[in-house]
Amino acid sequence: MSMYIPSYFEFVNSAKLLAGDYALENITEEMSLLGSSRPFLLSDKGLEKVGSVKTLLDIFSKSGLKVSGVFTDIPLDSSILKVNEIASLYRKANADGIIALGGGSVIDTAKGLRMLISQGGKDILKYAGAEVLPRGMNVPFTVIPTTSGTGSEATGVAVIKDEEKEVKLEFISSYLLPDVAVLDTRMLESMPPRITAITGLDALTHAIEAYSSMQRNPVSQAYAIAAMRLIIEYLPIAIKEPHNKKARLAMANAAYIAGASFSNSMVGIVHAIGHSVGAVSGVPHGEAMSILLVPSMKYNVNEAREEYSDILLYIAGDVYASTPNENRAEKAIEVLSAFVDQIRTMAPVRKTLSEAGVKKEDFQKIANRAINDGALIVNPRAADRDDVLRILSEAF
Ligand SMILES: [Fe+2]
Repeated sequence: MSMYIPSYFEFVNSAKLLAGDYALENITEEMSLLGSSRPFLLSDKGLEKVGSVKTLLDIFSKSGLKVSGVFTDIPLDSSILKVNEIASLYRKANADGIIALGGGSVIDTAKGLRMLISQGGKDILKYAGAEVLPRGMNVPFTVIPTTSGTGSEATGVAVIKDEEKEVKLEFISSYLLPDVAVLDTRMLESMPPRITAITGLDALTHAIEAYSSMQRNPVSQAYAIAAMRLIIEYLPIAIKEPHNKKARLAMANAAYIAGASFSNSMVGIVHAIGHSVGAVSGVPHGEAMSILLVPSMKYNVNEAREEYSDILLYIAGDVYASTPNENRAEKAIEVLSAFVDQIRTMAPVRKTLSEAGVKKEDFQKIANRAINDGALIVNPRAADRDDVLRILSEAF
């Protein structure tokens, strides 16, 4: 196995990581170092209900941090109108920084808010698709994820829905990267087994796709390896023992590390098809990943043979040693397939697209969207509509 080195690459991960005991207590000092003394807190109604928002506010007040406002009315899909609405509240409150506590939607909304406040103006729509933005106003930004999957706390990407046009817009900029990412098990323990399972399998997919992407590089691969190892060891424990702090922290780290990896290397065909299956048939993202991972890896196996063989070493070193070189890539797929099956015995995760409610008559629509998804560009093997249809059939 020889390590791949591209002739040129870039890698950015500027978020400072606070991980483990007392991470929440240290936010006050970090925000103050960044120049914020009146941050605005974004979260959602669910987290308010289970008490996480109050726990956080209590910790802040003990450490002397006063928030200038709290906004929890964030829908499941972040939205352009919501970002614009929160921006006007933020300005009215004279806030000087952002703290986001939540899952993907809260974090993406906060990223949109950060971009809008930093760049100025009243409508975030103006900045959709813009990769190159001038360095705007300094808006200190801390993210506390409450799920361990999207890795959004470590990426420069936000997906925000334009509800008027019914489309999800992708915002990409290194200025969307949080200044601080906070992984604290107190904010993660309320995750139910199904969410732990599907978000964990999303993170695993990030690591596998980033490791084998055409845009891979030694740094993103090193990150991907660490994430895979953590997930294989700790995801089953985090599902079985929701209050096992070590397993929760390990999974939070894995999601962050995999996020930093794919934010630089991009993902691949599992995500290209998964985004479409989500948009057309409403299958939750992580569940779509868990269903499409194995059929997509089988599709890629010849083009990604070397990378998949390496993956076997990281997820099952003993099996790697006893498997002849030419069979290692297929063996890696087998081991991953067994792992996903094992997770399905522990939490309610559906096994096929048909079980997840996808209709065969929607295949064309799904395939048409998938072949136009940006994630396909860096997949190790090119794919056309018929290839996508074949993967969909296999996953059905
Ligand atoms: Fe994902």
